[in-house]
This record gives sequence, C-alpha cells and structure tokens, in this order.
Amino acid sequence: MNLRAPAATPFLLALALLGAGCSGGVEGTPGAVGLRDPYFPGLGNGGYDVTHYGLELDVDPAADRLRGTATITARATQDLSAFHLDLAGLDVEGATVEGSPAAVNRAGKELTLRPAARVEGRLRKGRTFTTVVRYSGSPQAVTDADGSKEGWLRTADGAVALGEPTGSMAWFPGNHHPSDKAAYDIEVTVPDPLTAVSNGELVSRRTENGRTTYRWRTVEPMASHVATLAVGRFSTRQSVTPDGIRLFTAVDPESDAASKDVLDEIPAVLKWAAEKFGPYPFTSAGAIVERTGDSTYALETQNRPVFPGPPDTALLVHELAHQWFGNSVTPATWRDLWLNEGFATYAEWLWAADQDDVPVGESFDAAYEDEANWAFPPADPPGAAHLFDPPVYGRGAMVVHRIRLAMDDDAGFFALVRGWTKAHRHGNASTEDFTAYVEEETGRDLTELWDAWLYGKSRPPREG
Ligand code: ARG
Ligand code: ZN
Repeated sequence: MNLRAPAATPFLLALALLGAGCSGGVEGTPGAVGLRDPYFPGLGNGGYDVTHYGLELDVDPAADRLRGTATITARATQDLSAFHLDLAGLDVEGATVEGSPAAVNRAGKELTLRPAARVEGRLRKGRTFTTVVRYSGSPQAVTDADGSKEGWLRTADGAVALGEPTGSMAWFPGNHHPSDKAAYDIEVTVPDPLTAVSNGELVSRRTENGRTTYRWRTVEPMASHVATLAVGRFSTRQSVTPDGIRLFTAVDPESDAASKDVLDEIPAVLKWAAEKFGPYPFTSAGAIVERTGDSTYALETQNRPVFPGPPDTALLVHELAHQWFGNSVTPATWRDLWLNEGFATYAEWLWAADQDDVPVGESFDAAYEDEANWAFPPADPPGAAHLFDPPVYGRGAMVVHRIRLAMDDDAGFFALVRGWTKAHRHGNASTEDFTAYVEEETGRDLTELWDAWLYGKSRPPREG
C-alpha cells in the first residue's frame, strides 16, 4: 500500500510503481551495483548486509571443475526489488530468493537477482532473507591491478584460492567488499587422497565412495578477501596451544621439512603477539604451506595464512599479526590498507627487537633510508596497482613508530594499540577512525604527525 497515495495523481502513482519495479505492493528499489570503494568502485553491492555464507563445493582438480551451491543469508538495508552479487567466471545454473526462483542476469562480474514478485515483501529494510545460487565451471585466476595472480590458482595436485583484494569472487558469489563481514560454513568434497583446507575449524570429515567431505566453520566475522580454500595432498597436524587455541596446519609434503621449525613457533608467536596487541581474536589458528612456485603471495587468510612455500619467522609473524590487524579489525575501504600492512610490518620490527636484538629504531632508520618507501603517502596510494607497494608497508610502519615516539611511555603506547584492537574487534575501521582514536586517547592534537608521515607527499625530517 502506498502511504503517499492521497497526494499522488494516478499518473505519478503508476510512475512510482514502474520505477520501483514493484508488483507485490512493496516499493523496493534495486540495491547499488557497487559500494564506491575509492579503488574499486564496482566492488561489493549495496542494499544488504550478508550475515552468513553457506558454501557447498565439489572440487575435482583433475577435471578442473568446481560445482557449488552458495546459500547466502543477508539482511536488507533498504526495501529491495533486486540486488547484485559479485562473481567472476563460472556459470550460474539457477538461483532462488526466499525459496522462489529468482530472475538472474549476468553482466561481467555482476550478477543481478530479481526475486519473484510473491517474495518481494520479504526483502524489506531490516528483514533477513536467504538466497541460494547454484553454479559450476572451471574457476579462473584473476590478475590484479598490480599484476599478481589470485582468485583460483591451480597447484601441483590441486588448487588454492587467494583473494586480496578481489580474488574471492572467482570461487563464490557474494558481497566481495571488506566492509561486509560474515560467518561462514564451507563444506568441500574432494576426491581421495586430496584434503580440503579452509578457514576456521574442521567440524566434520566424512568419506564415501572415494570422496571426502570436509566441513569448515568460521563463527567470527570474516571479510571475503581472507576466505580461502586449499585442495591438495597435504601433511596435516592438529593440536591445541597452552592458551586453548586450536591449531591446524596443512603443508605440501615437499615443503614439510623446511617448514616444520617455523610452524612450531606459531604458539609462541601468538602468545607474544597477544601480549602486545591484545587477546588473539579467534578460536583457531594454523597455516597452509604450498609447494614453492604453486601460489603467488603469502596471505593472512583468516585463522590460517597461506604461504607460497616454507615461510621464515618474519613472514610468519607478519601474517599472524594480520589476524589482529586486517582480519579482526578490517579496513573500511581499500584506501585504509596501510592499517593492515603498517601494523603487520611494525609487528616484524617488534619481533626483531624482542627476539633478535635489533632495536626498533634501527628498523625504522632502514625503512626511512629506503627510497621505495617514499613513492607516495601510505594513506593515499595512487591507484589500485600500488595498493601493495612499499609505502603501505614500510611507511605505514613508520607512522606507527612515530605515534610511539610522540607518546610519553611505551606502556601507554601498547595500551593504545590494545585499545584499538579491542574497540574495533571483529569490525571495520578507517584511517579517520584511527587518527581520531589516537588523538582522543592521547588527548593530543597530532595534525602535524599525520600531515608529515601519513598524508604528506615528501619525506619529513627524521627529527622533530
Ligand atoms: N596481505 C598480503 C601480505 O601481507 C599481501 C597480499 C598481496 N596481494 C596482491 N594482490 N599483491 O603480505
Ligand atoms: Zn601483510
């Protein structure tokens, strides 16, 4: 029923109904096609907020095939007449919304779903609705703006999915922007003797007719770019740390010997990091180590980072630090990525100071002298091709160190850091949230620090 009907002429009323694509008496409008991220305007989708992904996947690496059913539970943030999902490659066989077949339109990486008229009323603002998408095909690698390969990568005997920044749409449809975090149940069936490893905890494993189904559960909110799936022959190990964190590591047999000592450090690194950054934000941890050359970059995939070969301790520390900075506290947009990489790099400096007697000041000086760190300000990379360039990492870490130097004492600095991870635990935060938080907590106007180290184009003097 149109509440404004008395004021509207029949002509205007008809126009309003047409514009809303409305047939069930609800004036819904289509959700936005993107979330206007500064670097990827079309990424993600508006009008809804995903709360849970249920992925049922059947992966046959030998045939290079994936068959999937994605059950997406979302809350409408507006009255919806239609909405988008991001999906790269793969064929959509059909979709339902609230149990009724939905009209599906495909244009590049945008999937538009128009629910059946009889269920449209269930997509009103604030309501939770369920979408099921059935899809299949041969999943593809995605080439990033910076030239790195991600998405679905074939490995020696399987595949691995990497998603930062935009690769995850190569293996499941969704709202692929870091601002929409959700819980996940990822159920994967693979032919024996392959193993399927994903995020969170392994809740069950069942073998039938030479195929095994692994069910992985992620209860804590996860951004889609740190979702992963690794299929292959893996040596797996399971244990529980003295702090009660469940560990699961999966290592390519050829990387096993060279990885063992470093992976054995996971409990110690987590304990050390928790003292610095606050309680570990998740119930499980671990690692996935691929065969050297099989995947492109290391990624802090939630709970269980992926390494493209045996990692060294510094890289392990970096990816584990991301569990706090990136995975629990997730950037609001891709412009805020320095909050991930700056802190993860700073964690490496802290580790080097505590474990290898390299004072943080020395790491800072080395970064300061490195020309590559001065190409642009960390809070303003000049385009998607530069998101993962040195300034985001090295200069990002310098920003963190300058805050520490600006404070009276180290205890206060670490309390500030722990307060930050606590304030935005399992949420999203922007650069502006961060600078406002630091000023609020320290009670100081740090405009000069931000202008010089975070936003300034040129290298500021080291002193002052
Ligand atoms: N976040 C990853 C790391 O900590 C790097 C991801 C790089 N991605 C890319 N497309 N280049 O090191
Ligand atoms: Zn990183």
